[in-house]
Order: sequence, then structure tokens, then C-alpha cells
Amino acid sequence: MSGQPEVWRGRRVVLGVSGGIAAYKAIELCRRLVDDGAHVIPVLTEDALRFVGELTFSALASERARTSLFTTEGTPIPHTHLGQTADVVLIAPATARIIAKYAAGISDDLLSATLLATRAPVVLAPAMHTEMWEHPAVQENLATLRRRGVHIVDPESGRLAGGDVGEGRLAAPERILDAAAGVLTRNGDLAGVRVLVSAGGTREAIDPVRFIGNRSSGKMGHAVARQAAARGARVTLVTTAVPADIDGIDVVPVVSAQDMHDAILGRFDACDVVVMAAAVADFRPKAVADSKIKKSEGPPDIILEPTPDILGELGAAKQGQVLVGFAAETENVEANGGEKRVRKNLDLLVANDVSAPNAGFEVDTNQAILLDSSGASEHTPLLTKVALADVILDRVTVLIGRGSAHQDQEQR
Ligand code: CTP
Repeated sequence: MSGQPEVWRGRRVVLGVSGGIAAYKAIELCRRLVDDGAHVIPVLTEDALRFVGELTFSALASERARTSLFTTEGTPIPHTHLGQTADVVLIAPATARIIAKYAAGISDDLLSATLLATRAPVVLAPAMHTEMWEHPAVQENLATLRRRGVHIVDPESGRLAGGDVGEGRLAAPERILDAAAGVLTRNGDLAGVRVLVSAGGTREAIDPVRFIGNRSSGKMGHAVARQAAARGARVTLVTTAVPADIDGIDVVPVVSAQDMHDAILGRFDACDVVVMAAAVADFRPKAVADSKIKKSEGPPDIILEPTPDILGELGAAKQGQVLVGFAAETENVEANGGEKRVRKNLDLLVANDVSAPNAGFEVDTNQAILLDSSGASEHTPLLTKVALADVILDRVTVLIGRGSAHQDQEQR
């Protein structure tokens, strides 16, 4: 175990292993991350395979180890897919060579290509002989990477390969995992902030057994709730879909738009941030039959009426709270989203095209356009819902005056 299981659960971790004697220590990192619930995809360089076996990593990890740019099993474009869908890329050990390639932007194998293709945070744990570690070329490359927001876990002093003693030994697994966890939790930048999140699709009853619903799985809202909690927020999740393993979060189960309205409005005064990720039905049956409608009575005429617009009411009533809404669009995403942000008085609107491949309902990935009150829009690449949750929360930290837009850019 890494000692921080709540941080790792459900995270997609690309574990890069480059060719040095310390590669065997990455096996332990892989095992600990998997034990803590991370989804680990090992990527081994050709030289790493001289020190450790592909099979060892495949047996321990969540997916088989990847070693080549040109194996298309599972995805036709592994060099971009792994990086795009990672929540964090962790390279341990990182040799002088992978550090140099990354600093120079060279992508001649799967690991170096993944590094260029990712917008997830990158953590490097270098390991090499002292002379190499101290060489100006290595130190200058590391300085370049640090400037670009890459996190370096400095090596320790100790016994090195061949019996030499000095600085350059791979940091202890605890230090590497703590550093990566700190990156993922943004070092608790939402500590004490009260965040109210809604998730899932509401169900509007027709009779005691039937309802009008939608395809929302709740995954996006769950990801926001989990990430906010991991970053130190006090989170209440009002949801139609109760997730498993949701430690440390106050969960309020609801069914209909009206239930969700009552649960959220009742908690609005006592929160700092609201993220409305739920797919709330816009209409509900005007009359709900008391008993099951019989087929023999023929198809019923169902008259619909509007549900309360929860976000609209919050926008009208807000007193300093930061309001984040979602817009599920199928056309003119940016224009419709912008109009919705203004109409509902939101600080941030996350618009996504639910008709795009790998975005929207039921999948683990999403791609969004973030629209804020400055009129600016940011198009995210395809990200895991967990990674998108962090992008949204990075914006929230700026909106509540805790982060800076500059730091925010650097972290990604
Ligand atoms: N929402 C809400 N209450 C409703 C409907 C939606 O609070 N009754 C919230 C959703 O949680 C989401 C945002 O409003 O954050 C946008 O929902 P959407 O249905 O896309 O927007 P509408 O205002 O209903 O606009 P339209 O259906 O015309 O696109």
C-alpha cells in the first residue's frame, strides 16, 4: 500500500520504467499502486527490458505492459492514447537518457511519445551514477523540465550499482508515492472549502414502477466529488447514483429533480462552491399514477410539466458562492454553452458535446470546453473524467482566490 489509498482509487497511472538497475524497484511501485486501487499501465523502454521482465509488470499491473509504439492491440494510436487518458505519468527510474529526450522533445519510443502527448502531471524519479547526476547536461535538462512544471523526486545518497557510493540512488518508494500523491491532490489546495456536488440522472415517476430518465451514469459528478475531497474539501454529494468506495464524503441519495432541488437548496447557504454535474430532467409527468398503469388500459397520455431549474435558482440566489454548471449539447456547443452560462449566472460552464466519441454519458473519458465570465473559452483534450474533474477544480481554486491561473497552467 502507498499509505494514501483514497488518493489512488480509480486513477489511471502510466508507470514509465526506463533502463537502469533501479528498474526492479518499479515492480514494488506498481504493486503498491494497484493495491491502493490505481489503474496502472506500465510502459517499459527497450533498455528497461534488459533489467526487468515485461511479464512481471503485466502480471502485477491493471493492463499488460506496453513496450512498443507499433503494437496497436487495444488502440490504433497508443503513443497518444496512453498520455491523453492518464491522470498522472510517473517515471521511475528515470535515466539521464529519458530525461534528455523529454527535455529536448524527442519521441522515438512509446515512453517518450507518451510524455509529449500527455497533459497530465508528470513525476520523474531519476536514478543514475553520481557523476552522471551531477553533470551539467543532466542538471540543465532537469531545470528545463522543472520550469515546465514537471515534478522531480530527487535521488538519494547511498550504494549504487557496482558498489559505488554517492548521490543518484532512486528515492525510496514512499517518497516517490508521496510526491506523486501530492501532485494529484494539488497538496490540499481546497482544504476546508465546502463543496456541494450533484451527480447522476434524475428519475421522474410515471407510476410506482415506471419513470422517465436519462443515460447519465453519475461518473463525472463522482469524479468531481472524489477529487475535491482528495484535495482537502469538505464535500457533500447529492446523487441519484450512489458510488461504491466514497470515503470521507457526505452522500445524500435522491431520485427526482424535485428531491435534488430540495436537497441542494437546503444546503446552499452553507457551501462555498456548487458543481452541478447532474443530468436533471427538464420535464416530469404532471400527474403520477398511484398504482401501476395497466397495459389493458391502452397507451397513456402523459402530460409533462417543467421541473424546477435548480441551477437557475442558485444563480439567482447566490451570495458569493462559486457556481459551476454543465451543459450537455449536441450542436453549437460553444455558442449554446455561453448563452447558458450567462442565463444561469454561472462562474464557470463546462460544455461538452455528448455526441462526440468517448465523451459524455457512460464512458470514463470526456472532452469539454470551459467557458468563464471573462468570455474566454478553453478546449480540453480528451481526458479521463478524473483528470477533467481536476481541471475544473483548478479553475475553482482560482475563482475562490486560492490558486493562480499561472500555477494552474504550470501544473498541467
Ligand atoms: N440543471 C438544473 N436543473 C434543471 C435542469 C438542468 O440545475 N432542471 C443544470 C444541470 O445540472 C446542468 C445545467 O443545468 O449543470 C445545464 O443543463 P441543461 O439541461 O443542459 O440546460 P438547460 O438549461 O435545460 O437548457 P437546454 O435543455 O435548453 O439545453
